[in-house]
Amino acid sequence: MDLELSETQALVQKTARDFATRVIAPQAAEIDEKEKFPREILRGLAELGLMAINVPTEHGGSGAGVVAAALALQEVARACASTAVMMSVANMVGETIAKFGTDAQKQRHLPKLAGGEYAMGSFALSEPDAGSDPGGMRTTARRDGNEWVLDGAKQWITGGTHAGVIIVWARTAGPETGAKGISCFLVEGGAKGLKVGRPEDKMGIRGSDTVPLELDGCRVPADALFGQENGGFKIAMMALDGGRIGISSQALGIARAALAESVTYAKERKAFGVPIAQHQGIAWKLADMHVQIEAAQLMCMRAAWLKEQGQPFSLQASMSKLYASEMAVRVCNEAVQIHGGYGYIREYAAERHLRDARVTMIYEGTSEIQRLVVARGVLG
Ligand code: CAA
Repeated sequence: MDLELSETQALVQKTARDFATRVIAPQAAEIDEKEKFPREILRGLAELGLMAINVPTEHGGSGAGVVAAALALQEVARACASTAVMMSVANMVGETIAKFGTDAQKQRHLPKLAGGEYAMGSFALSEPDAGSDPGGMRTTARRDGNEWVLDGAKQWITGGTHAGVIIVWARTAGPETGAKGISCFLVEGGAKGLKVGRPEDKMGIRGSDTVPLELDGCRVPADALFGQENGGFKIAMMALDGGRIGISSQALGIARAALAESVTYAKERKAFGVPIAQHQGIAWKLADMHVQIEAAQLMCMRAAWLKEQGQPFSLQASMSKLYASEMAVRVCNEAVQIHGGYGYIREYAAERHLRDARVTMIYEGTSEIQRLVVARGVLG
């Protein structure tokens, strides 16, 4: 693995860093406090080519690759984790359409997703009673003439209120078929029979839109079938493998922000006559935070690089997501501790980082699911 960034990767990283520092970071506290969906920021990211980084240029994407996408996400997450998760999911949806869509599906959706005409692209796999075990989903799709009719409920859908296109998974064969009886469909925002529920009142990533969806006799044309009939489960798994690199990047960005703010605070805050950074108890915390972030960075880059080379990367993506998410929670927890009482109030960002980091251990596969994937890899 080459650890030097290519010119393109360095450029994408710099572009994301500049935009994140100049435009996103100053709004992050307000986005969190007011649960504000950052529509204009997402449009700005699209204008910079950051909403479809690994989508080929002929479909409106940047074609800059997986490593570049991970680097850009880290920069955005450092400024605002709410924005980063939506950027991550939109990029995952775009990549998945580019990989498995028909020419017509790609032409219809990718330019709008990449260019910002769609505020979001969403991924509707989970259900109220099926999160870690999507093979147990109950939403159904039945063929009726030239249409498919979808019925059921989806849960935890990032960006669902604002999505121009949603990849929806549904059973096209009986429940006894498990993962082998699931297909996916491209459902457009505003489709008849698609009802968007009330946004969840979350602990963190509060500017990120998270909604339940109801599919009540939702009719989509026959050509909305995405991939092979009954072949949807594998598409979900492959998309999530890539998505996990995105969440690992998000966790890394949050942790880097927490460390940077802790360093600044520890150099300024005095106790017992010296800046607290000069007390070994604090300095060693900062050292441990830094080491863990660097370890997570290497794992993330390794997973992204393997994916970019077209090599198997599922195990590395799970390892990276598992380590980075748990690392981010530890690092952000230490950041709160270093800030003392100031770490516990809204005036400082430390508490937001901790709240934002916590969900990275849950979505796109819980830590327990990542351990299951890693254990399967270890045990062969
Ligand atoms: N790539 C390709 N194919 C895969 C695969 C992968 N990574 N993982 C499994 N498959 C294939 C298997 O080979 C198998 O195919 P065959 O039937 O041909 O052999 C098929 O899929 C079924 O595989 P398993 O028997 O291993 O399936 P399982 O039911 O045991 O599930 C699991 C495996 C890893 C636990 C999986 O269910 C999983 O990842 N669960 C977590 C789901 C998840 O991450 N949800 C997140 C929701 S999305 C979200 O959070 C988005 C957001 O908005 C932020």
